[in-house]
Amino acid sequence: MKKLICFGTTILFLLIFSCIASENLYSNSNGFDLSSGENGKAPTILLNSGYRMPILGIGTFQLHGDTCYNSVLSALQNGYRLIDTAYIYGNEDKVGEAIKKSGVPREEIFITTKLYMSQYANAEKAINDALQKLGVDYIDLMLLHHPGANDIEAYKAMEKAVREGKIRSLGLSNYYTEDIEKFLKQITITPDLVQNEIHPYFQEKDVIKYASGKGIIMEAWYPLGGRANRTRLFEDKTISSIAKAHNKSSAQIILRWHLQSGVVAIPGSSNPNHIKENISIFDFELSDEEMNLINGLERNQKHSSFGRRN
Ligand SMILES: NC(=O)c1ccc[n+]([C@@H]2O[C@H](COP(=O)([O-])OP(=O)(O)OC[C@H]3O[C@@H](n4cnc5c(N)ncnc54)[C@H](OP(=O)(O)O)[C@@H]3O)[C@@H](O)[C@H]2O)c1
Repeated sequence: MKKLICFGTTILFLLIFSCIASENLYSNSNGFDLSSGENGKAPTILLNSGYRMPILGIGTFQLHGDTCYNSVLSALQNGYRLIDTAYIYGNEDKVGEAIKKSGVPREEIFITTKLYMSQYANAEKAINDALQKLGVDYIDLMLLHHPGANDIEAYKAMEKAVREGKIRSLGLSNYYTEDIEKFLKQITITPDLVQNEIHPYFQEKDVIKYASGKGIIMEAWYPLGGRANRTRLFEDKTISSIAKAHNKSSAQIILRWHLQSGVVAIPGSSNPNHIKENISIFDFELSDEEMNLINGLERNQKHSSFGRRN
């Protein structure tokens, strides 16, 4: 009998361990488990904070006023549950209004916002301001937008806000391997996520590898190459021929590549058709050969002058 209990306990332990291990596996550069995704419903991943986060969302950079409100509302109506905003975008209030109008329960929505460098010296106030503008009593994920003076102090203020229940998960944006390494030595809560420019012409494989070794999720800004450069990527021969083979758009192929690479994507759009199209990428799969072809497009070509690598 004793032997049987011991055997049963061992099996249970192995089962629990393999579940935890497979959850972590999907959080690295081997790609996410996309099998639970449906068009209009992105899968979620488990962050180190213990909270789940959708792996596809809508970005709101350069979306202002009614355009921002309508885009976020359209995204929520089309099944998005992750919204990316920032103090510097000047639209946290519009994001909050769209969330309220959508009728989607707050707890189903994952809101990311960011503190800007000008706010680092007085981060506690900046966190309270963000809560107020968004009209929520907690922020799902708060990032430091860029490295800068007082960033450690600002991160510590965010750690305090985590303890107070005002923020659930923490992260960084535009930090590269050396920055992250230095940062980690000075803080208590390891960032759950790092958000950097990533697209087929600027793939960041070294940062992704480093972050994944630390259990940090990578998220792509400019996932489609950014507003000014998206057409270059959409018309790339490799991407457009893969799109044709799957009867999908170039945007869908690029977004699917991000997710199969284990990178969260937050494409920005003010066009309801594009918004719907971008979350309709769970009914096909890129083969290893297609993934390798897109991996081969790396040009180390950054499309933005901000968030420049050191
Ligand atoms: N942390 C940072 O420093 C940082 C910096 C930049 C951005 N971000 C975040 O990352 C998000 C994404 O970046 P982004 O919005 O600048 O660039 P992006 O997502 O790479 O590209 C957006 C552009 O792609 C177009 N687009 C989107 N879906 C499309 C589709 N299916 N077909 C054709 N065109 C499509 C959009 O036009 P339409 O409006 O016509 O659809 C827009 O011009 C931002 O919104 C922001 O939340 C963060």
